[in-house]
Amino acid sequence: MPIKPVDATLAYQPKRKSAANSCKLRILDLFCCAGGAGTGYSQAGFDVVGIDIKPQPNYPFTFMQADAMTLDPAFIASFDAIHASPPCQSYSDLAKRNDNADAWPRLIDPVRDLLVRSGLPYIIENVEGAPLFSPVILCGTMFPGLRVLRHRLFEANFPIVPPPHGKHPKVHTFDKRKSHYGKTNEWTDFVQVTGGGNCTVAAARAAMGINWMNKNEINEAIPPAYTCLIGEQLLQHLFHTDQEPTRQRKNA
Ligand SMILES: C[S@@+](CC[C@H](N)C(=O)[O-])C[C@H]1O[C@@H](n2cnc3c(N)ncnc32)[C@H](O)[C@@H]1O
Repeated sequence: MPIKPVDATLAYQPKRKSAANSCKLRILDLFCCAGGAGTGYSQAGFDVVGIDIKPQPNYPFTFMQADAMTLDPAFIASFDAIHASPPCQSYSDLAKRNDNADAWPRLIDPVRDLLVRSGLPYIIENVEGAPLFSPVILCGTMFPGLRVLRHRLFEANFPIVPPPHGKHPKVHTFDKRKSHYGKTNEWTDFVQVTGGGNCTVAAARAAMGINWMNKNEINEAIPPAYTCLIGEQLLQHLFHTDQEPTRQRKNA
């Protein structure tokens, strides 16, 4: 069934479905940027559609440029689940230190209202310090293959079980004032991916499991491994609760 476009200027065409993928569930990736979160859901087995207010030429899935806060509820209802990564700047430590949190929108509360109203399973992702309800914390140390220290919080209306959180290793730095400057290697040690530039883009990509983003995009992204774990648990939830996924209900 064709999906109602967000507005007349957005010609959304659902992907043609083969017999092999016809029963894939669909997740709406709000505030998608270049698709770190979306890629994890795709790896878990979802069809992903991204929404961002700015053009996202590097987004790897179906993309629509729109304001996430003004989407048509009928469009939202055509998905099986929703992920939202609203801008984090106003909740960040940097904004608190600079006392300029008001310079950015604080969208978490209105986004939660929108997601709750949809009645769908949802996830809201943000930084430490953001006003999320009972969030689960994920860290790069929890995922074999990642080498990034990047705490992110996830609120959801279904259970998320995080892997054990181990001790943090020393992080590579270009800062000569740090006592371990020169004793680490960005290709083998953990890195931090920030606007300040604690590692090269190439090392950031390798550490986060992302090979398609530029520096600005990767600074905003979460490692796909985080949302792959959440996506797998969401699938378990959707298929092992009384609530059938929306798509299954519609096809019945
Ligand atoms: C933190 S980034 C998301 C990162 C993404 N989850 C990832 O893992 O790659 C937040 C994004 O929200 C977008 N944004 C800000 N306000 C928006 C709005 N009202 N509607 C849609 N997107 C918006 C920004 O353009 C930015 O790309």
